[in-house]
Amino acid sequence: MAEDLIIAGATRELKYQSLLPQLEALLGDERDQTANLANLAAALRQTFEFFWVGFYRVVGEELVLGPFQGPIACTRIGRGQGVCGYCWQQKKTILVPNVEEFPGHIACSSASRSEMVIPFFDDRGEVALVLDVDSDRLADFDAVDQHYLEALARKVERRVC
Ligand code: SME
Repeated sequence: MAEDLIIAGATRELKYQSLLPQLEALLGDERDQTANLANLAAALRQTFEFFWVGFYRVVGEELVLGPFQGPIACTRIGRGQGVCGYCWQQKKTILVPNVEEFPGHIACSSASRSEMVIPFFDDRGEVALVLDVDSDRLADFDAVDQHYLEALARKVERRVC
C-alpha cells in the first residue's frame, strides 16, 4: 500500500487522482480518529513530500496539534490566530502564497514559506479540525491543491470528525 502511493514523475494532479481513491482502503473499517489522521498525514507526506503536513483539532476554544509529519510544531492555536485559526474562524480554505505577507502567521518553522489550510466539518457543519500543508517554497499551492484537498476532506470527514 505505502509504495503504491508514490508515482515517480507524476504531476501533482495525477498524484491526487491516484491517492484519493486509495483513501477508502487506507482507512478501512477503522473508526479511531488518531489512527486515521495519522495515516492520512503519512499518506500526504509520502505522496507529495510536503515540508509539513498535519492536523489541528478543535478542542474547546483552541486548536490542538494532532497527527502530523514534519518538524515539531506549536501545540495550541487560538480561534482567529495564524492561518489555522483564521481557517477555523472563516470556515473556508485559506491559501497563503507567501507566509511573510499573512498578518499573524504563526511560524512553527522559519523554513516554511507558503501554506494552505483546509477545514473539515462535523455533521452539524462546524469545523472539527483543519488540515495544514506547508511548503519550503514560495507559492507552492494553487487551485489544484485546493480542489483535491477539499475533495479529500469531503471524502473522509465523516470518519475523522
Ligand atoms: N503556520 C500555521 C501554524 C502551524 S505550523 O505551520 C505547523 C499558522 O499560521 O496557523
